[in-house]
Amino acid sequence: MEDSTQSGPLSGMTYSQRTFGCQMNVHDAERVAGMLEAAGATRVETIEEADIVVFLTCCVREAADVRLMGQVASMKNIPPAHDAPRIVAVGGCIGQRDGAKLQEALSHVDIVFGTHNIGHLVELISERREGGKPVAEVLEVSDEDVCGLPIRREEPWRAWVPIMTGCNNFCTYCIVPYVRGRERSRPIEDVFAEIDSLAAEGVQEAILLGQNVNSYGRDLYGSPRFSEVLEHAGRSGLARVRFITSHPKDISPLTIEAFASYPNLMPHLHLPLQSGSDRILKLMNRSYDTGRYLEVVDELRDKIPDISLSTDIIVGFPGETEEDFCDTLSMVEEVGYGSAYTFIYSRREGTPAAEMEDDTPHEVIQDRFDRLVDVVQKSAYEQNQKEAGVRLPVLFDGVSKRDGAMLNGKSPKDQTVHVPLPDGADAGDFAGRIREVEIEEARTWYLKGRLADG
Ligand code: 5AD
Ligand code: SF4
Repeated sequence: MEDSTQSGPLSGMTYSQRTFGCQMNVHDAERVAGMLEAAGATRVETIEEADIVVFLTCCVREAADVRLMGQVASMKNIPPAHDAPRIVAVGGCIGQRDGAKLQEALSHVDIVFGTHNIGHLVELISERREGGKPVAEVLEVSDEDVCGLPIRREEPWRAWVPIMTGCNNFCTYCIVPYVRGRERSRPIEDVFAEIDSLAAEGVQEAILLGQNVNSYGRDLYGSPRFSEVLEHAGRSGLARVRFITSHPKDISPLTIEAFASYPNLMPHLHLPLQSGSDRILKLMNRSYDTGRYLEVVDELRDKIPDISLSTDIIVGFPGETEEDFCDTLSMVEEVGYGSAYTFIYSRREGTPAAEMEDDTPHEVIQDRFDRLVDVVQKSAYEQNQKEAGVRLPVLFDGVSKRDGAMLNGKSPKDQTVHVPLPDGADAGDFAGRIREVEIEEARTWYLKGRLADG
């Protein structure tokens, strides 16, 4: 992070983080790290070495709940890193949802915090360290401006720019509106200023972030102003700009026009479909049907012919029939996604879908899921073939975790690209840089190539 100091209320303490979930949580984790370091704490990788452990967890699907509970429970027997007892803090969507109930289930959790008060975390930790009681602080809403909090970027060349939080859509399966609250946009001048300062700092890639970026500004200005944000980002001088997540019902012609107008707005769009059955889309309260979705895809491809699309799909929504599922398979084939995140429906207490009759056997749902994954893989493979033999600018992240001789990077369409590290070259010279790559091989999950310029 930029302004780390070693003095502060947490000086001399070590911290470690565990984060599960969506980009919003990953971004919150960067804020938490920034704050803890500004307060004097030092990051360590293992829980054994840490005086403070912060879990940030998503609750969109049950798997994250189970994982959090398991990991927090297993910490009970790990001896403290130093003299003082270890402080365990659990936050994010699960903290927001469960509050003090989490401490009833896991008695060694010192602090539970929510999605609206991460700015209080240092204070809560200091109080606990000075002998205060365990605390669960969860606010329903807050005016806290998390964007003013310090940040420790995981990759200095890539920045998340939250432009709005929360969601008003209430898809019937989804817990997000209950744990992240209603849509709240940041003032447009603040968003512009952050984009400009990232460009001035030399950041290569900015990712505009929100649960529903297309409705950005509606709460503040009466109508969405996302196209203006795209135009500003397009003119900012940033090498690459991306944005997630777009709701198909809210993507406007103005937005598509702006998206098509600037070459630094990368030609990839994540456009969650959720289901290819109009009946299920209605039960999900998605506010579009497959016909409208396909119109949006046509408008996008008309303006940005080589755009790559990715999506989210849920299998096994309550009452989904074989016919509904086959409609989903057909849509995946028709759209031709470059990639897709596929999920088995997970019942979330408190959402309308949790009350719907759900009698499809698990084996049937698992079989559908496997069939969907096959179709998605075939589509990803076909889409990636377009890149074979092509020269592409690749933004490198560094070497692969598994193979120190292989560089990893991202294409404009957000495909993973592997390039062998040239003999004698230093991987550090590549991280955060964009270099031209000749793509020699296109597989389902990645492209492989060699540096075009040596
Ligand atoms: N079960 C399964 N998947 C879900 N998602 C959201 N809620 C659920 C749920 N209850 C998926 C949606 C969303 C993505 C982030 O997670 O596909 O787009
Ligand atoms: Fe959840 Fe729907 Fe909002 Fe996405 S748009 S966060 S799926 S309620």
